[in-house]
Amino acid sequence: MSASEKIRASMERSSWIRKMFEEGIERKAKFGAENVFDFSLGNPDLEPPSRVAEILAELAKDTTPHTHAYMPNAGFVETRQAVADYLNTFNKAQFTADEIVMTVGAGGGLNVVLKTILNPQEEVIIPSPYFVEYNFYLDNHQGVPKVVASHPDFSLNLEAISEAVSEKTRVVLINSPNNPTGRVYTAEELEGLSEILTHYSAKFGEPIYLLSDEPYRKIVYDGISVPSVFDAYRESFVVTSFSKDLSLPGERIGYAAANPEISEKAEILGGMVLCNRVLGYVNAPALMQRTVRHLLEESVDISIYQRRRDLFCEGLESAGYDFEKPEGAFYLFPRTPLEDDAAFVRALQEENILTVPGSGFGGPGHFRIAYCVEDKVIEKSLPGFKRVMEKYR
Ligand SMILES: Cc1ncc(COP(=O)(O)O)c(C=O)c1O
Repeated sequence: MSASEKIRASMERSSWIRKMFEEGIERKAKFGAENVFDFSLGNPDLEPPSRVAEILAELAKDTTPHTHAYMPNAGFVETRQAVADYLNTFNKAQFTADEIVMTVGAGGGLNVVLKTILNPQEEVIIPSPYFVEYNFYLDNHQGVPKVVASHPDFSLNLEAISEAVSEKTRVVLINSPNNPTGRVYTAEELEGLSEILTHYSAKFGEPIYLLSDEPYRKIVYDGISVPSVFDAYRESFVVTSFSKDLSLPGERIGYAAANPEISEKAEILGGMVLCNRVLGYVNAPALMQRTVRHLLEESVDISIYQRRRDLFCEGLESAGYDFEKPEGAFYLFPRTPLEDDAAFVRALQEENILTVPGSGFGGPGHFRIAYCVEDKVIEKSLPGFKRVMEKYR
């Protein structure tokens, strides 16, 4: 028996992640972990807020019958209501528990929404650079990615998005704050996108949905906030998780929210609940639903990520790197001085610096740095970054 042709091809396509991982293990064994600067993964290094452990300890004592039983596939109504109340604090749209489905992380939420709304061969417009897993998620539901390059500063290229829309377009999938660029889309960009989608939805007589992936919403810097997609466009969904802001990626907990004004709301929400079930998730983990209900306003200390961003930006700038300063998330996406971004990433590896080529994110000529690592790793890596830049400048 062997894996299917499709899965074999997918494994081949995503092999750079494995290569990077293996390279890291090899180098750490050879040079010592403290001498390898691993910026390849977006795995938050900050521990979750202490309240997480306190709440979990309390919940573990709960012996109420059926505590661990099956539940409605959308999740506990108390948790969904708490999420709705939280969303009502920063969206003009007013939510109830009905518009919320608790999901297995943002990844689970994206799959639930895409499965609910996509017909086979329908197109999903994705501004690039973008989170590569989207390609696999779309393929799960027979969707076709239509990647549209953003402007050089990573703002949305609305003209190009408008040109990419066709009768086959069903969804525009955005991610803000963005992985890999750190860009936060402005209210004006969302308004512009909304105008385009409203125009084409009317023209084709079917809604084109806006799906916003927002697991980094709370990780923003310099006092900015992330504008509401719901307030900009009616036919919209947001998916998010507690993976990044509470540092709980292993616990697989998040949610999908549909705009309270979305067309055919009952059918869409019924579809999402069914999809959560038939995708095999059944429901989001019960213990974590009970936990996050109390933590909707909380996050890890974002100022730590901001300090690291500043440390990196100052160091890279003085070493001659060219980049856009991230406004959120914990990634930097500098331009490579060589056209061949993979070659530049290999040159950084020679300095024991592990990053990822931008081509892997649909952003050739760049490389991605994940700075969810301790300050001292950043500090110790900077001379290596400088030496590599001196070689190629
Ligand atoms: C942009 C983006 N979307 C979704 C995910 C998946 O998040 P989760 O772990 O909540 O499924 C990630 C994880 O890195 C991400 O960066």
